[in-house]
Amino acid sequence: MKLIFATNNLHKLREAGAILGTGFSLTTPADHGITEEIPELEATLTGNALAKARYIYDRTRADCFADDTGLEVFALGGAPGVRSARYAGDTHDFAANMELLLRNMEGVADSRARFRTVVALILGGREHLFEGEVGGVIIDAPRGGEGFGYDPIFVPDGYTLTFAELPPSEKNLISHRARAIENLLAFFKAGPGIL
Ligand code: IMP
Repeated sequence: MKLIFATNNLHKLREAGAILGTGFSLTTPADHGITEEIPELEATLTGNALAKARYIYDRTRADCFADDTGLEVFALGGAPGVRSARYAGDTHDFAANMELLLRNMEGVADSRARFRTVVALILGGREHLFEGEVGGVIIDAPRGGEGFGYDPIFVPDGYTLTFAELPPSEKNLISHRARAIENLLAFFKAGPGIL
């Protein structure tokens, strides 16, 4: 099964490839001559995931999927959410985003949060959506050097270590993105004659 994954992040590409397995051959937009950054202007994760998949489909007419992820903090009404990458500004600065979140959590007793990923698939011109999430808590100071983004301040439910302290292989077993891509895989497995 050939699919374009609408990402330029090779780490994500490898992670998705490992979950989907040998039945899939994944390519990136760059492999199809699409090198510009795909706009993410929508107000929801679903809107952005669909917009990115449609952008690729409109230019290639090929089967493709895109993902969008946000960290949703309950006490902050779901923020930073769809703005997770740009929470502290357009520079996409992981450290500044984390600092701003820690500042906004000062004096907040409820530290519950979740990472949520939406995957939008366009298959034969039809759109399908999948979700994955992992619950946890935000701690008050960063810990660990693995991963990226908000990993150093997120402890997943059932763990005492942050995502940045867990080995990547262990994070990838339980992560929001892994769960969303597992749901995508389950769809292909259930679909008659597709895999
Ligand atoms: P994207 O939609 O995957 O690009 O994710 C948007 C933003 O969410 C990223 O810039 C990160 O700040 C954050 N994010 C996404 N996935 C993760 C993760 O696995 N760990 C920590 N932060 C993440």
